[in-house]
Amino acid sequence: MSRIVLVTGANGEIGHSLLEAFASSGDRDVISVDLRPLGDAQRGYVKWSFEGDISDPKLIEQLESFDIAEIYHLAALLSTSAEKNPELAHRVNVNGTMGLLSMARRIGQRTGSAVKFLFPSTIAVYGMPSLEVKTSAGAVAEDVYLDATTMYGINKLYCERLGVYMSERYGQLTDDAGEKTVDFRALRFPGLISAFTVPSGGTSDYAPEMIHAAAQGKPYACFVRPDARIPFMAMPDGVTALLNLAAAPRESLTRRVYNIGAFAPTAEEIAMKVKSAFPAAEITYAPHPKRQAIIDSWCADVDDSAARRDWGWKPTFDMDTAFDTYLIPNIAGVYAG
Ligand SMILES: NC(=O)c1ccc[n+]([C@@H]2O[C@H](COP(=O)([O-])OP(=O)(O)OC[C@H]3O[C@@H](n4cnc5c(N)ncnc54)[C@H](O)[C@@H]3O)[C@@H](O)[C@H]2O)c1
Repeated sequence: MSRIVLVTGANGEIGHSLLEAFASSGDRDVISVDLRPLGDAQRGYVKWSFEGDISDPKLIEQLESFDIAEIYHLAALLSTSAEKNPELAHRVNVNGTMGLLSMARRIGQRTGSAVKFLFPSTIAVYGMPSLEVKTSAGAVAEDVYLDATTMYGINKLYCERLGVYMSERYGQLTDDAGEKTVDFRALRFPGLISAFTVPSGGTSDYAPEMIHAAAQGKPYACFVRPDARIPFMAMPDGVTALLNLAAAPRESLTRRVYNIGAFAPTAEEIAMKVKSAFPAAEITYAPHPKRQAIIDSWCADVDDSAARRDWGWKPTFDMDTAFDTYLIPNIAGVYAG
């Protein structure tokens, strides 16, 4: 029998890629949830589709009737959108996650097997105290510099901890203590770049925006300085990482929250790559002080040695192959078509 999996935020950038991956493996019955209706292509990949707000208890009640084995909780307000509406971000990102974790717990109790809860966290959980420290720290491990400065980063850091709590310490002074009903696993994604969807609402959006503008022959004014550096990853690697972490045997995991990295270029290094593919590209810099400050507070790179050791994480794409074989040809194709 196929496993039932729930994908929230299924209509987003990662959601589209994940639904496609599930469809090609064919071993799961997918329930999707999003505020916006799925397009025809995605609708064909799912068995049940719900339109609604993940922080709505009535929606949770409906979802709870399914014997869900895995939850991929992607629905969230991203960093820029969350900063523009912090109260809404808290409701969706935090209350929405708590509601789903509690639902997972009840389903786990009912079915007698722990529900796997895959949570996409972010490098926004880091808060580097200064540019000097950011530069000298280089690739940072999971448990240092956790001083998020944005609503989004704070929400995600708290939800990482909620997930660990629900898996390991729920109601530790009650009779329920020690019961294993939720198997929380989180990945801290760097900025993900897709060849097929254009992001919105994120602070790492300058990288994909630069490529999409160049492919359309449009000028692009980058909202961060040329020397701004954060980690990035090609979208297929992000989806593979989610699936591989979900498949890893519990006993091989020494943590519940893992960094994953691929490449960590400056904005200027990205611009040079884009210009080598689109020589007419017009890229200028008009740093937005507040968005720049957010990027400066995120780490320059991540230490992902725990993921490599515990569940064999290894990105397929480095910077050159991501651009030369995945991003540039596909994005050029989209606009040429
Ligand atoms: N894309 C990245 O670079 C990146 C990096 C780190 C972490 N993440 C995390 O991965 C997840 C997915 O990111 P994405 O890039 O696909 O984002 P996205 O904005 O493309 O998709 C998010 C989806 O969630 C839906 N949504 C928003 N609020 C909702 C609500 N209240 N109820 C139901 N659905 C709601 C939106 O309609 C959208 O389809 C997010 O949790 C994000 O924080 C993404």
